[in-house]
Amino acid sequence: LKGIFAYLNYQVPRTRKEIFETLVKGLQRLEYRGYDSAGIAVDGPRKSTTDINSNAICLIKKKGKVKALDEELYKKDSLDLDEELCTHIGLAHTRWATHGEPSAVNSHPHRSDKDNGNKYKCTLMHITKGYEFESETDTEVIPKLIKYVYDNRENDSVTFSTLVERVIKQLEGAFALVFKSRHFPGEAVSTRRGSPLLIGVRSEHELSTENIPIQYNTHFKEGVQEKNSHNRLDGSTAINSVGDGRAVEYYFASDASAIIEHTNKVLYMEDDDIAVVTGGKLSIHRLKRQVGEDPVRAIQTLQMELQQIMKGNFEAFMQKEIFEQPESVVNTMRGRICFDSNTVILGGLKDHLKEIKRCKRLIVIGCGTSFHAAVATRQILEELTELPVMVELASDFLDRNTPVFRDDVCFFISQSGETADTLMALRYCKNHGALTVGITNTVGSSICRETDCGVHVNAGPEIGVASTKAYTSQFVALVMFALMMSEDRLSLQPRRLEIINGFRVLPELIKKVLSLDEKIRAIANELYQQKSLLVMGRGFNYATCLEGALKIKEITYMHSEGILAGELKHGPLALVDKDMPVIMIIMKDACYTKCQNALQQVTARSGRPIIICCQDDPEMTKNAYQTIELPHIVDCLQGILTVIPLQLLSFHLAVLRGYDVSSQHNLSLKLSL
Ligand code: BG6
Repeated sequence: LKGIFAYLNYQVPRTRKEIFETLVKGLQRLEYRGYDSAGIAVDGPRKSTTDINSNAICLIKKKGKVKALDEELYKKDSLDLDEELCTHIGLAHTRWATHGEPSAVNSHPHRSDKDNGNKYKCTLMHITKGYEFESETDTEVIPKLIKYVYDNRENDSVTFSTLVERVIKQLEGAFALVFKSRHFPGEAVSTRRGSPLLIGVRSEHELSTENIPIQYNTHFKEGVQEKNSHNRLDGSTAINSVGDGRAVEYYFASDASAIIEHTNKVLYMEDDDIAVVTGGKLSIHRLKRQVGEDPVRAIQTLQMELQQIMKGNFEAFMQKEIFEQPESVVNTMRGRICFDSNTVILGGLKDHLKEIKRCKRLIVIGCGTSFHAAVATRQILEELTELPVMVELASDFLDRNTPVFRDDVCFFISQSGETADTLMALRYCKNHGALTVGITNTVGSSICRETDCGVHVNAGPEIGVASTKAYTSQFVALVMFALMMSEDRLSLQPRRLEIINGFRVLPELIKKVLSLDEKIRAIANELYQQKSLLVMGRGFNYATCLEGALKIKEITYMHSEGILAGELKHGPLALVDKDMPVIMIIMKDACYTKCQNALQQVTARSGRPIIICCQDDPEMTKNAYQTIELPHIVDCLQGILTVIPLQLLSFHLAVLRGYDVSSQHNLSLKLSL
């Protein structure tokens, strides 16, 4: 997870200081995504005036904020800040750790090797792989690989882009990369798969073309190919590159926010595109042509303002993150659920699985939303592990001095990985000899470091103060754990398959729920002046009631209570009358009839329930004041779909009640940098 920025000036003299400033500014524009370390790569002082290859690449990396990196840049006495570099490519990166904790050494860019003269042959920007690695950063594999490919090239005419082509053919998973090399001064090669990357172009001259034809490497044969590459680059048959050898600047970035202040002319790269700048000309290459694909890449003119790019078309980060959930759940599952073999492997737990299976009890501990993820998955954990499962609020767990034993396995759920109560509960359990497991969204966080093993939920940085996508990803991670625990239980296979099939369709179904946003906004419009809001449900959807009510409290400053529908008759029913808004979750699962019973109690007291129910349930439509109809999914995953309308509702209620949901101060609260 990352922010990439690279700047190439061709025949545009810039001092090293100006280049630093541009790179740092680029990173600052990406800061809003959250990160924990940053780094840059630029050309160092030239050792020989005659040998163009004598440039050492200078790598400067720092844990923490971009500001810390900025200060570090000016500490290098060996770098002449006023030296003018007429043509140069500089790389910059902010990292949000997923593989390996945040540290200078794990920061990007990475280099291929470090020779005695401290020269770096090749520097690489970034990769995110979809599966767990043993090594500290998976990214570093790539510069090593390109060095191998370079050392084994058949002759000296092999181009930089060909080396990159050979590398990406070996890669699996998602990545976005920008390469620079002292062997190819002034050249840049970039490529992506699954992660975004775009290129901005700035020139005082009119661009030679605004539609770059893709150059296909269809006759790819080792040896023959080099001749082709040269032909492809000289542009003799058609205009197939931008830039005509005159002064030009290129900006590579993972996000338009880092480019827009320099130029609004941008090209969005597609998966497996290889963009090459050589001699100031930008061309796009692909290994082979696929049926139906667009054979050109257009340079577009961006009309957006900076603020708009950062949050997209969303009013606030919370809203953006709610809408990211179709992708964030995929990131949680990526490389872990194999839909071909119907198996689940959580790399961070596999070495401890035997020990976990021998335990007498699971204790799942968290605070706030993270606790709700434990409540939401408790039933399926019990069902698939056949172990007693306790779910605990960290503070209460500590207050009670809860007995914990060596044969307990204790889970610590935390988005940030830094919540004090959860951390203290972790230390408490460790002292009692239990095996500790972290389920966090922040690699390198305290909980991550102090647990024996764990799972990174990989939801991506959560900037909005109210946890949304981290909750659904924690949910997914805990169900995956239950699946992994039950892999060898024959009698549980049909159930496991049903759940894995549920995961298969989950992202699409989340999209369907999100498409109800307008309807939910209309409901918020009716409710926002109310003082209180009750949310009722039971079984697999009880956690949604707690989480929905917490979201409403946190964001709208409105009283809200999540009520277990089974408890209604034991007290809470007294609150229900024609004026009290009640949201009920009634899905077609084992609790359906019991929930109908609760509905009757509510309507008997003239309550006007808004019912979150399954599509095509006329019984509900008949009895509800309003319905929010959701697609059906296997019962134990239904809570992922039922919570989303309440996330959306709380967001709209907050906006209507006049609260600034997008307030940037949340950033510092959420990111423990
Ligand atoms: C609380 C927040 O302080 O911490 C909640 O207000 C959050 O929104 C809870 O759910 C737990 O946070 P974390 O980072 O441990 O999941």
